[in-house]
Amino acid sequence: MSELNLVLLGPPGSGKGTQGERLQEDFRLPYYATGDILRAAVRDESELGKAAKEYMDRGDLVPDEVIIGVITERLDEPEAADGFILDGFPRTIPQAEALDSELEKLGRALTAAILVQVTDEEIVRRLGGRRTCAKNGHVFHVQFDPPKEPGVCDIDGSRLLVRDDDQPDVIRHRLEEYREKTEPLIDYYDSKGLLRRVDGSASPDEVGDRIRALLATLRIEEDIDV
Ligand code: AP5
Repeated sequence: MSELNLVLLGPPGSGKGTQGERLQEDFRLPYYATGDILRAAVRDESELGKAAKEYMDRGDLVPDEVIIGVITERLDEPEAADGFILDGFPRTIPQAEALDSELEKLGRALTAAILVQVTDEEIVRRLGGRRTCAKNGHVFHVQFDPPKEPGVCDIDGSRLLVRDDDQPDVIRHRLEEYREKTEPLIDYYDSKGLLRRVDGSASPDEVGDRIRALLATLRIEEDIDV
């Protein structure tokens, strides 16, 4: 079977992380979520975390030069030899171009960029109710995916918190950043024939089924060399 090199695209709160975790389990591929990587760096107070924190708190994108190397250096690791799932990267045209040139250097190419689409109303509902575990970043939702015990992570027992950037004014700004800097990637990948759209408004299981069906179709097309 050939490599499966995927990018998950979509606005904040569209469910990229939720689906990325499922894809990781299904395909046993490394899952690189730049938001998770940056939040861990902020927690660890590393140089990367220090460089990123103030941008993240405001809901701004961190500068391209801070984030590009964080991802491109991972693509040449043995664990990513059969493929990878990128969530939250690329988020700007320069990031997409850097990804393309790194893959080209490695003699590889993207399989697809999957755009998870949801309405702004749904985004506000999802981010407003999201709860994230303080220790390992496990994600819940007070209504759509509640933990067994309110405020406590089912997986590691740590406290569930509202992410700093899930405050209403920061959510609004993240959406503006998305529209201005990330939405142009839709045309970028469409023009390369790589864009696949998925309606993300259904339940996580249904959205997961849609993505699996889409990937199965891609595999069939690849086998018959469409
Ligand atoms: P990041 O963490 O990537 O934030 P984001 O893209 O805004 O995405 P989210 O994590 O908010 O949402 P998601 O789509 O993963 O949704 P989730 O599955 O959690 O980035 C944070 C910050 O880091 C950025 O603002 C920026 O500063 C910086 N950054 C990161 N990457 C960068 C880059 N490449 N360049 C520059 N800066 C970068 O779901 C949301 C909620 O909805 C959850 O509670 C979940 O349980 C629930 N939910 C999910 N799916 C469903 C469903 N189908 N039905 C009902 N509820 C659902």
